[in-house]
Amino acid sequence: MQTKTIGLIGCGSMGEALAAGWLQSGLVTPRQILVWDADPEKLAALIRQHKVRRARDNPDLAGRADVLFLAVKPQVVDAVLQEISGAVASRTVLVSIAAGVPIARIESAMGRKLRVVRVMPNTPALIGEGISAVCCNQQVTVRDKQHVLQLLQAVGETVEVVETMMDAVTGLSGSGPAYLFVLIEALSDAGVRQGLPRDVAARLAVWTVRGAAGLVLKTGRHPGELKDMVASPGGTTISGLHALEKGKFRAALYNAVAAATERSAALGRGE
Ligand SMILES: NC(=O)c1ccc[n+]([C@@H]2O[C@H](COP(=O)([O-])OP(=O)(O)OC[C@H]3O[C@@H](n4cnc5c(N)ncnc54)[C@H](OP(=O)(O)O)[C@@H]3O)[C@@H](O)[C@H]2O)c1
Repeated sequence: MQTKTIGLIGCGSMGEALAAGWLQSGLVTPRQILVWDADPEKLAALIRQHKVRRARDNPDLAGRADVLFLAVKPQVVDAVLQEISGAVASRTVLVSIAAGVPIARIESAMGRKLRVVRVMPNTPALIGEGISAVCCNQQVTVRDKQHVLQLLQAVGETVEVVETMMDAVTGLSGSGPAYLFVLIEALSDAGVRQGLPRDVAARLAVWTVRGAAGLVLKTGRHPGELKDMVASPGGTTISGLHALEKGKFRAALYNAVAAATERSAALGRGE
């Protein structure tokens, strides 16, 4: 990785998180990162903060990058691809994090079979705790994939999927943080309703969610088993679980993931 140039088009929240993660992990040095953004203020801020290098424009960046991250909004991806199509070298690995943009659309915009990786990250990447689902076209070599996975692991976990799963990934981990923000907020409100001060309820709610996730990850145990361990016969937790079942909590989550998956597929069809 020490000899590679990593290009970053788009220095918004995701682009900034990626650059910060790469540098914090020590994977690359600031001199290896080449950036460009249409917004001069965001570009200047990223360069000032991380001492990375500034490209002249998108085509200049595209021609110099070994791994090229496209971190612009899906609506502007086509315009950027058109701008850089003549400049990207065949050795370059093009990594798109744009939600809902299929690999085939990128290939067709580039007019040739380049090395393309499609990624669906999520917002906890902003604190280095994201999870990114990754799929590659056939031009991507094992070594290319290793490099891209390393770069993504600087902002969290990675999981490999086939491209047909990307809409479901969007419905689960892409949109999932929002479901959990609602859960945390609702738990806090519920605590307030039972007479807890707002700040106490909010801390109890967020640390309970974080602790439960940590317990699943650290023990490697099935969440159902961990749930059974705290649900003693005739106790408080089983009463709470009964109320959740009556409120169709699980069904609501199935429906949320299904609705977001369907919406992601519709957006991919341009609807
Ligand atoms: N944030 C998330 O939760 C999340 C999760 C999963 C995937 N993603 C994907 O990540 C990508 C980036 O999202 P984001 O939230 O980081 O967006 P963002 O904050 O809006 O950043 C995108 C940046 O790209 C710039 N830009 C626009 N047109 C450009 C062009 N032609 N050339 C170079 N730069 C250009 C934008 O400038 P202007 O502001 O001037 O337009 C903006 O600074 C999106 O495709 C999104 O689907 C995001």
